[in-house]
Parts: sequence; structure tokens; C-alpha cells
Amino acid sequence: MAILLPGGAGYIGSHTAVELLNDNKEIVIIDNFSNSNPSVLDKIKKITGKDFKFYEIDYTNREELEKVFKENKIDSVMNFAGYKAVGESVQKPIEYYYNNVCGALILLDVMRKYGCKKFIFSSSATVYGNPEIIPITEDCKVGGTTNPYGTTKLYIEQILKDLYTSDNEWSIGILRYFNPVGSHESGLIGEEPQGIPNNLMPYIVRVANKQLEELSVFGNDYDTPDGTGVRDYIHIVDLAKGHLKMLEKLNNENNGLFIYNLGTGTGYSVLDMINAFEKSTGETVKYKIAPRRPGDIATCYADPTKAKNELNWKAEKGIEDMCKDSWNYIVKNK
Ligand code: WQD
Repeated sequence: MAILLPGGAGYIGSHTAVELLNDNKEIVIIDNFSNSNPSVLDKIKKITGKDFKFYEIDYTNREELEKVFKENKIDSVMNFAGYKAVGESVQKPIEYYYNNVCGALILLDVMRKYGCKKFIFSSSATVYGNPEIIPITEDCKVGGTTNPYGTTKLYIEQILKDLYTSDNEWSIGILRYFNPVGSHESGLIGEEPQGIPNNLMPYIVRVANKQLEELSVFGNDYDTPDGTGVRDYIHIVDLAKGHLKMLEKLNNENNGLFIYNLGTGTGYSVLDMINAFEKSTGETVKYKIAPRRPGDIATCYADPTKAKNELNWKAEKGIEDMCKDSWNYIVKNK
């Protein structure tokens, strides 16, 4: 009985694959390498000493996807195949809605056809738009997303809620990620954004590594302690482990639809992150204050109580681990 990981060669998928294999789970990875690198597959095997089946396919190709279900007994699916760059989604809405939303629909339809009704979805804190309450709980209003990427997450959450209403034999876990950062301690796998990074940490490490000139801090006039944006950064390994806890709960419950914030409950500003990175690594991050980035919000961090109480999951790694592991990946892959 295998767990299928569409996008399992990507940043979040590969770290989750490592934790599943370390937990002696059988996995099958499918990926088309549109936002990942084939070398990651061998690195997953090197880290875990475990093997797994892999198919180079596009999960939106129904015929190829059905082949995977025909050839393997898939018991559950964790979907990591969504495109996830906020800025890119504004430029390429068709690609984002097709890959993320149509891809999810094709995946769920094929799952249904083969009697597989256990699904974990990578959602995002962006579904809260400009959150009405901080720290954010799962019953905080969703909507008001400010980019196609966030809206695809909102749409897929609605699809899953409607699916469960139509057939409560499904077991569905919706995990709302806050800001994933860091890398596996081995330094073998990590975040490899294509082109100029949109996200803060990948940009910081490339400035420290002299690949980029300096960091633009997008605004220091927000209503936050130091005026810069505050976010809930969570170590990628903690995030990955949250998926194992979610799967455990779906396996223990007969069925249901469950929603959890995966965050630390602590918010750090951009300047906090720069200072923490420099302190943890001894490296220097050159930066300048720049205008606000359109679509950004001032503050976003989680109340992670529900995941603690219901999944027995809590983020263990702190900001120093996140900075050190992010830098270690760059150093190990120079
Ligand atoms: C964090 C803070 C920026 C870059 C998005 C998605 C979320 C998730 C992570 C996929 C903000 C500031 C950033 C820079 C800066 N996506 N910043 N200079 O926008 O909170 O979240 O990415 O997993 O779903 O919504 O993340 O890292 O882009 O920004 O000052 O060069 O850093 O203004 O305050 P964000 P981010």
C-alpha cells in the first residue's frame, strides 16, 4: 500500500519523501521536473538508504496518471505538484489555474476511479487574505486572496469541502503552510527556486553567497514593531513531519475533512530574519529599504494550537536552525 507524491522531487515534496521513507512507508513519486531537479531523487535515496518507484509524468496527463494507479496499489495521496510562486502566478494565471486546479481535479477523479479516497492537500496561509485576526486560527475567515496562486489554493479547498459533502467516505487533510524555509541537515536537498527568488530566505542566502548584489527590504512603514513585514517561518523538516502526523490521523479516523495551520506561532520581521541569519552564520547580508511589494500584507503568523491538540504535532526547530540549514545547503552545493 503506497503513498503517492505528485511533485515529490520538489522542495516540500522531497523533504516529506525523506520523512516518510525514514518512517518505513512505501512511496511512489511522480514529477515532470518543471520546478525540480532529477538529481533530487538519488539524494532522497542517499539520505534515507531507501528505494522507491518514480514516474516522470505530468500529473495533469490523465492517461499517464492512470498508469501509475494501475501499476501500484495507491492507498493515499499527498499532492505537492502545485506551482507556488506568487509573483509568477500574477503573470501566468492560466498556467497556475490549469496546473493547480485542473491538476487537482484530474488527480481526485482518478483517485476516485481506483478507490483511493485518502488525500492530503498542500494549502497555504494565503487563503486567509489579509487576516482578520492575528495569530490566525483555522476558523479565521478565508478569502480576499491577492494573487492567482493564493486563489488556486482557496478554490481547491472549496472543491475538497464539496467533495467530502458529496461523499463522506473521503479522508481529507488540508494543511495550510505558513512560510517554509530551511533544508535537510545533510545539505543534500533544499530550496532551488528557478531564476531570481521571490521569497525572502532564498534571496538572503544568495546575497550572503555573493550571487546577488543586495536584498531589497520591501517596505519599512508597516504597522509592525520595526516597520518591516512579519511572517511565521517554519522549518521545512517540521513541515514535512506535519504530513506524517496528518496521515496518521487519516489512517486512524474512518473518514472526515480536517484543516490545520502548519506554523510555529511566532512571527519574525524581515529585519529579524536578516539579523538572525547574520548571527547564525557569521555571514553579512547587504540590504536596502525599498518600496512595498504590491499584494504584501503587514503581519501573518499562526495559532498552531489545533495541530498540537489534534495531530500531536508542534514545530521543533527555531530560527537559528532555519538560517543555519538554509546556509548549509548553499555551502554544500557551491
Ligand atoms: C516574506 C516577507 C516580504 C522578499 C509567499 C506565499 C506563501 C508561501 C511563501 C509558497 C514579506 C519580504 C521578501 C524580498 C522582502 N508560498 N521580502 N524582500 O509573501 O509571506 O508568502 O511565499 O510556499 O504561500 O504567499 O513570502 O518570502 O515572499 O516574503 O522584503 O526580496 O519578506 O515583503 O514581508 P510571503 P516571502
